Formats: sequence, C-alpha cells, structure tokens
Amino acid sequence: MDAIASIEESAEASAGRSKKGPLVYRQNRWTRLTHWAWAFALFFLLLSGLQIFNARPQLYIGKESGFGYNNTILKIGAENTNAGPRGFTEILGYRFDTTGVLGWSGPLGNETARAFPSWATVPSYYDLGTARVIHFFFAWTLSATLLVWLLAGLLNGHIRRDLAPRPADIRNLPRDIADHIRLRFHHTGRYNTLQKLAYGGVLFVLLPLMILTGLAMSPSMNAVLPFLNEVFGGRQTARTIHFTVMVLLVLFFLVHMLMILAAGPINELRSIITGWYRTDPPNDGTGTIGRSE
Ligand code: HEM
Repeated sequence: MDAIASIEESAEASAGRSKKGPLVYRQNRWTRLTHWAWAFALFFLLLSGLQIFNARPQLYIGKESGFGYNNTILKIGAENTNAGPRGFTEILGYRFDTTGVLGWSGPLGNETARAFPSWATVPSYYDLGTARVIHFFFAWTLSATLLVWLLAGLLNGHIRRDLAPRPADIRNLPRDIADHIRLRFHHTGRYNTLQKLAYGGVLFVLLPLMILTGLAMSPSMNAVLPFLNEVFGGRQTARTIHFTVMVLLVLFFLVHMLMILAAGPINELRSIITGWYRTDPPNDGTGTIGRSE
C-alpha cells in the first residue's frame, strides 16, 4: 500500500495537487476477495459462453425453436454475396453487415464462418465440449462466491451499511446524476447513490438472474426444480434472458471501468486490493466520513 500511496503522491505533486484527505478503510476483506473471485469467474464465463452460443447462434422467444417457427429475435451468420462471403447480425428482423467481427472472421485470407470471433471465445477454436466444462466450472464458482458475499455482507453489515439505499440517497439522485455527467466525483468512505443502484442491480438482480436462467436451461434441473423452466417461459426464453443479462453485464463492466478511470484509478484500485481509500480533504464540504474495522 505504501508503494502505491507514494506513486499516487508524486503523481499528484507533479500535477500541482497536494491537498489530501485521510485514508479510510473502505472495502473489507470479504468484499475484496469476492470481488476478484467473481471478476475472474465472469471473464471465463463470458468467453466460454460465447463459444457455446456459437454452436447455435440464434435466440428465440417461446418454447419452440427451429424450422417452421417464426420466433427468432437474434441471428448471427454468414452468407455468400457477389462481393464474397459476408457476416451478418440480424436483430428483430433488422440485418446489419458485421463482417470481420460477427458471422465471418479470422486472419486475412483465412476467414471462417463463426458467430463470435476466435479472440472472443475459450477455447479459441471450435470445441463445444471443453467450453461447457469451463462454463459449468465457473458457473458454480460464481454461485459459491455470491453466496459467500451474501453471508459475509449480511454478517459484517456491508449490505445494510454500504449498499441499501436510504431516503437521503433517493433525494440525492438528481444531484448525483448531474455530478456523474460532469465527471465530478466526491471521494468519501461511502458509495454514492448511483453506485449503490448499479452494484445492487448487479449483485441482487443480474447475477441471480444469470444463475437462475442458467439452471432453467439445464435438463437435469427439470427433475429438481420443475417450475423453474416454466417461470422463465421455457428453455429458449431462458436462454434469451441469459444472453441479455450477459450483454447488460458487459455494459456494466465498460461503465465500471470508465468510472474508475474518471474517479482516479490508483486510489480506486488500491481500495479494491488493499481496502484503503484516499478521501477528499474535509473542508471541501462533501464530508469524509470513513470507517474503520
Ligand atoms: C466482471 C467484472 C466486474 C464486475 C461484475 C464488478 C462488479 C463490482 C461490484 C458489484 C462492486 C461493488 C462490490 C461491493 O460493494 O460488494 C465493485 C466494486 C469495485 N470494482 Fe468491480 N467489477 C468487475 C471488475 C472490476 C475490475 C476489472 C476492476 C479494476 C480494474 C474493478 C474495480 C472495482 C473497484 C475499484 C470497486 C470499488 C469501487 C468504489 O469503492 O468506489 N472491478 N465491482
């Protein structure tokens, strides 16, 4: 931590900013440990999931799939045209040329027909069996991590203290949105309203939905939880929801990275690695209430 702090200090000194608030202990060890466990698991889940999707690169609404049903909402494929083979992506009947990335991709002169390109899948070559083994291993890793996070967060007060929105958070929402638009961040010991909503949305809505729709697709779950498949409107709709949640998580990740870069990457990274977070000086009017464990 000292090394990172001194890099940060010299960076700030050379930028002419020397005013600093106290370091506070913002992330407890369970939050940090589970954060990196699910980030790691989600990385492999995404890449192996895209490989599994490649085996049948279409999504449907409803219980049926295949020829004779008009319920495809997304299709990625390749077709022969006068200009040679082209990749396309069709969403709700609208077709886009996605040659080079989706549908038709690969090294120049060696392109092949595949929905997601080899750099976005694990394994990079087509191998459904290996992708499924990797996917299920990390699916259980993610589920166990989420359970540990939930138990630890309930016992150490992280969920109640840091994530549960309070009436003041709701009142602050318009100001918080305006601050984010202007990239003005207040560095305090607590999450702001948008962080609570985004992190809460990921941890209590998206990740559980991902796990439940994953289970709903599994034939072996029909015997254990027969209603699960019905709740999500059948296996094909569960698969479409599963894919949509993946897209939302990828969007969350991109915004998460942008916010970390904008808020000060060294300070943010230090907090999620060591727990310690540099707050704003107390006289800037934002309040720098930290906490200690
Ligand atoms: C799949 C990828 C990721 C997901 C789903 C994710 C999600 C989250 C969530 C839900 C939290 C709040 C945790 C809690 O309070 O219990 C969080 C915090 C945080 N994450 Fe991530 N994260 C991901 C990847 C990353 C990566 C790669 C980095 C670093 C480069 C990162 C840096 C941070 C930091 C610094 C915080 C604390 C933010 C703060 O205290 O203001 N995350 N993340």
